[in-house]
Amino acid sequence: MVTISRLVLAALTAAATAACENVFELSQPSALPPVKTPNLRDIEWGQINFISTTDTHGWLAGHLLQPSFAADWGDYASFIEHAKEIADEKGVDLIVIDDGDQHDGNGLSDATPVNGQVSQQILMMAPIDLMSIGNHELYKCEVTQQTYDLLAPHFDGRYLTSNVEIMLQNGSWVHIGQRSYRFTTKNKKINIMAFGFLFDFKLNCANSRVSEVEQVVQQAWFQAAIREPGIDMFVVFGHYPIRFWPEMWAIHRAIRAVHKNIPIQYFGGHSHVRDFTVLDSRATALQAGRFLETVGWVSIDGIEPGIYEDDLSYSAKPLKYSRRYLDFNTHSLSYHVNKTESTFGTPLGKKISKIIDEYRIELNLTYPFGCVPTDYLLEKAKYPGPNSLLTLLEENVLMNLESDHSAIKENPRLIFINSGSLRYDMYSGIFTIDSGYIVSPFDNKWKYIPQVPYSIAKRILARLNALDYIFMELTTPISRTMLVRQSNLGDTFDINLMNSFISASAAQDLTHEDLKTTGYVTIDDLGMDGDDTPHKPYPIYYLPNAIATKDNFPIDGSEPEAVDVIFLDFMLPFILDALKDIDPAMPTDDWAVLLYGGKSVKELIKDFVRGWGTQCLNP
Ligand SMILES: *[C@@H]1O[C@H](CO)[C@@H](O)[C@H](O)[C@H]1NC(C)=O
Ligand SMILES: *[C@@H]1O[C@H](CO)[C@@H](O)[C@H](O)[C@H]1NC(C)=O
Ligand SMILES: *[C@@H]1O[C@H](CO)[C@@H](O)[C@H](O)[C@H]1NC(C)=O
Ligand SMILES: [Zn+2]
Ligand SMILES: [Zn+2]
Repeated sequence: MVTISRLVLAALTAAATAACENVFELSQPSALPPVKTPNLRDIEWGQINFISTTDTHGWLAGHLLQPSFAADWGDYASFIEHAKEIADEKGVDLIVIDDGDQHDGNGLSDATPVNGQVSQQILMMAPIDLMSIGNHELYKCEVTQQTYDLLAPHFDGRYLTSNVEIMLQNGSWVHIGQRSYRFTTKNKKINIMAFGFLFDFKLNCANSRVSEVEQVVQQAWFQAAIREPGIDMFVVFGHYPIRFWPEMWAIHRAIRAVHKNIPIQYFGGHSHVRDFTVLDSRATALQAGRFLETVGWVSIDGIEPGIYEDDLSYSAKPLKYSRRYLDFNTHSLSYHVNKTESTFGTPLGKKISKIIDEYRIELNLTYPFGCVPTDYLLEKAKYPGPNSLLTLLEENVLMNLESDHSAIKENPRLIFINSGSLRYDMYSGIFTIDSGYIVSPFDNKWKYIPQVPYSIAKRILARLNALDYIFMELTTPISRTMLVRQSNLGDTFDINLMNSFISASAAQDLTHEDLKTTGYVTIDDLGMDGDDTPHKPYPIYYLPNAIATKDNFPIDGSEPEAVDVIFLDFMLPFILDALKDIDPAMPTDDWAVLLYGGKSVKELIKDFVRGWGTQCLNP
């Protein structure tokens, strides 16, 4: 820990002195250049404007192999600096928000001894105004401590955790950041009260405490804060989905009980989708996707400072809203702040890009395992199929699992994984240590139940896949199917529309060239014109909850008597439930559940990729 911290400091200092040399251009050196899509939809400036990111999960280097999302955190800093300048020229306000989940999902955050040691320092270099905490800051005690020690002081009152506390060494509980932040905007002098909430998360480490939103909004401090005189607007941001989930509505009811008309702007996260919802005529919510694929933009016009004090009959003029989801590439980002690629990078932005590059090398993230010959995709490819990542694992990878008990690895076996154990697509090109963290960031262990009669074992997979909703990855509260529905269909779920999305592209698998131009087509409460880049939509296929690989089966094609049932430890309750359904006579406790050992999914993938060789490195 000490070592890395010192390294960070050294690099920050070195980069600061080198900043004026301008040796570093936009993005990461190995990032693919953006596709220069014409006809971007402009952002519309209002009286007050917001830029928001959420669920960055360590992707500060950007998506090196995906041109649509290949900008980096340095480019984002440049974007913010230019946007702030424009706001000042126009005499309007701009507020930059991040909604948490900054760990787990990328080497830059995950490869350090304490997750986030380097990435959080880089994250803090961008001029963000308001930040809140995500559930991924709370799984590990040391990460929560780091958030308290590093981020909260840096933001000096602007890191908001209205319902999250940490226990100090002496046993006292304190809020990790502040519960609320009151400020007046720079140019329009709008008086804002801000809160930062986390959804009712339960799987946190013991050194933190998450209070239920519904209860917190009844607490005296909150009730007093919303009654402070002279507030023109509330900004409620944080880590909660803005559709289907109850938390945001609990906050909304509490504020509306006191202020019938006051403008309230919400920002959410966690479900990894682009979305915009309208709560009422003066309250809307924006959610800016995931993994730095998206920068969210919302602007509001028509706020009348000074007139929203509790006059129930007041009918102010309606507010005008505009929202955009910007693709995270330098073409989009520079376009929206009226810069060319040569005028876009600011000294701060370039400095951040350089530090990211240095750290990727320092952490050995660029070490190549092999050259992926084609794209292996999750929801974007049909399963089973030649471009399905699940199929690749099922047919080529999982059978390479070796038990620590060498005696049993020859047994007939079924190896199960849940599709949620894979986090992201695997794109053609160099597969590095970083890619391992990206595709499968979780460190699950393998468990097994020895010698399950095959007549029972062969029915497990169908049971798992019949469940609507089980296979969240350890950390995501909704299934992939839900995620898919939510990402494209919002409230007005319409199966026909869904089907048209699927059939539009289902006729053939995407080629790598297609993938460069297809992208998100978001349907939200304001319609279908929110995405800045007009794309053909990504195809979306339903993925099974789980897949299973058969191994060591009799070569004559007959069925084995019994098999070892092997699965990721996370799946245990689901496997036991399935067994109980299949054989109600067998008490769940009677199944012997043992540790199988062997390499993680991430390591198995790396080993497999080695077999492809590293030819693409020297084109
Ligand atoms: C624990 O430490 C904090 C910060 O140093 C201090 O404010 C608080 O009073 C202490 N609590 C107790 C019970 O000593
Ligand atoms: C964009 O920048 C150019 C050159 O820097 C300037 O002439 C033009 O007025 C700008 N456009 C807008 C809309 O600000
Ligand atoms: C980088 O990782 C590879 C693969 O694990 C390893 O062989 C190599 O020694 C590492 N290099 C450094 C500098 O740590
Ligand atoms: Zn997340
Ligand atoms: Zn989350």
